[in-house]
Amino acid sequence: MRINKYLASCGVASRRKVDAMIKEGRVTVNGVRLTEPGIDVTEQDEILVDGRRIEGNEKKVYYLLNKPKGYVTTVSDEQGRATVLDLIHEDAGRLFPVGRLDANTSGLLIITNDGELFHHLMHPSHHIDKTYRALVQGFFTLAKAERLSKGIDLGDFTTAPAKVTVIKQGKNSSVVDITIHEGKNRQVRRMFKAMGHPVIELERTRLGPLVIGRLAAGSYRKLSPAEVQALFSRRG
Ligand code: URA
Repeated sequence: MRINKYLASCGVASRRKVDAMIKEGRVTVNGVRLTEPGIDVTEQDEILVDGRRIEGNEKKVYYLLNKPKGYVTTVSDEQGRATVLDLIHEDAGRLFPVGRLDANTSGLLIITNDGELFHHLMHPSHHIDKTYRALVQGFFTLAKAERLSKGIDLGDFTTAPAKVTVIKQGKNSSVVDITIHEGKNRQVRRMFKAMGHPVIELERTRLGPLVIGRLAAGSYRKLSPAEVQALFSRRG
């Protein structure tokens, strides 16, 4: 396998960054310092990045978790709070979540040990759509939905156009689906708050080709090979 693909799959960095690291002379294969990225390697090769040995013989695993509220999206929490990895009962080695949901957000989260998928999905230019179902305070009008869908100024940045669908309108609260491809910290909560409708509950229902479906909160399932393939081929 091409060394940039291999090291990306081990979670070292994206393929492009790996190429740059090789050109900077930071990578050795079997004791030889590389200067050009175009070589193939196998798991039998001893690869060091900045002098650190890269272990690459992990079988890749992919889980779709329905994250319940109250779990933090991190590998380990300094304050000892429950993390999303506490919900995965598998002996699968070094797992990590792809992206982040707030502790009080529920819904679709991918957990994997594949660094390449992580870099692929997190790359801003790949524009992976994420859909959230928000229960918001107050009567959310169609005019507000239209304004929100055009992109709004949040002070530090203006959001890109979004798809906004009003599911239910009530005097005290409304249900709205919103699809965005950006992933700024607390973005959906900030967008609704800026419209005067703070979020009461937030759930991610879709990520690219994946939907949460009927998976119970706290449960997870393996992604099928076709789903993994679809995630990797997703661009734009
Ligand atoms: N936007 C938010 O505000 N919170 C999340 O958890 C995800 C997206």
